[in-house]
Amino acid sequence: MACAEEERCSYEVCKETAEWLRARTARRPRTAIICGSGLGGLADALEDKTAFAYEDIPHFPRSTVAGHAGRLLFGVLKGQPCVCMQGRFHGYEGHAASTVTFPIRVFFLLGVENLIVTNAAGGLNPQFQVGDIMFIRDHISLFGVAGHNPLRGPNDERFGARFPCMSDAYDQELLGLARESAQELGFQSFTREGVYCLLPGPCYETIAECRLLQALGADAVGMSTVPEVMVARHCGLRVLGLSLITNKVVLSYNSQEKANHEEVLRISVVRAEELQRLVTHLLGKLQEHTASP
Ligand code: HPA
Repeated sequence: MACAEEERCSYEVCKETAEWLRARTARRPRTAIICGSGLGGLADALEDKTAFAYEDIPHFPRSTVAGHAGRLLFGVLKGQPCVCMQGRFHGYEGHAASTVTFPIRVFFLLGVENLIVTNAAGGLNPQFQVGDIMFIRDHISLFGVAGHNPLRGPNDERFGARFPCMSDAYDQELLGLARESAQELGFQSFTREGVYCLLPGPCYETIAECRLLQALGADAVGMSTVPEVMVARHCGLRVLGLSLITNKVVLSYNSQEKANHEEVLRISVVRAEELQRLVTHLLGKLQEHTASP
């Protein structure tokens, strides 16, 4: 069932997709997880899975990037009912912002309350090492500053308010649970916190751009996440963002280093297990938190 880009984000279209899914799984997920490049293993860890290929779900976009599988999985992690996107959508694939963020609105209509979003990112902060996991404290959307925003256009109040707040985009309680999880798992040596900056891609950044982003206060740079976070906050989902630092950006004209997708995927795989353990542990804590009176 094809769907025009501008219609894709409409309440009626999102509802049709949510109802189609609801009719095919008894799971009522509380947390949605978006698996970034090479991080799809998280979805495999779900128990009692039901999987849907994106191409079989009405109105769902298709992902076109190597390392992104293209499946929506429902299941349970540490007692918490979850839905996982194994493969996400990016603007650089040619998708409209409404397409990139379409699944978030479907999750909202499915009753999801929390969004955990993971990505691969380049490290701008000189203290960061390849393989670090950065908890996103805030973001910079140069895209947004330039007027590209998934919430542009008529506002449907059934999703949220016209002017959503973004100073609280990343939920303090989830961030606290992430910090505690890192401590309990002994992951402090490779967990960091910082500001994620979205650039549209698909080109990796120039040296001058990386220096600019550093001067702006960004700690990591990537090509995803921010549109989904904006739409999630608009409809009231709580967000936790995790960036896996897969490379250090090139900052010197004398450097022989070059960012490349193969390296990004290789490092994702190396750290995928820890990231998976971190998210699973955190979900267990979240489940305890919400289960206790
Ligand atoms: N830049 C942009 N996106 C990325 C990078 C990078 O260096 N690494 C992984 N995703």
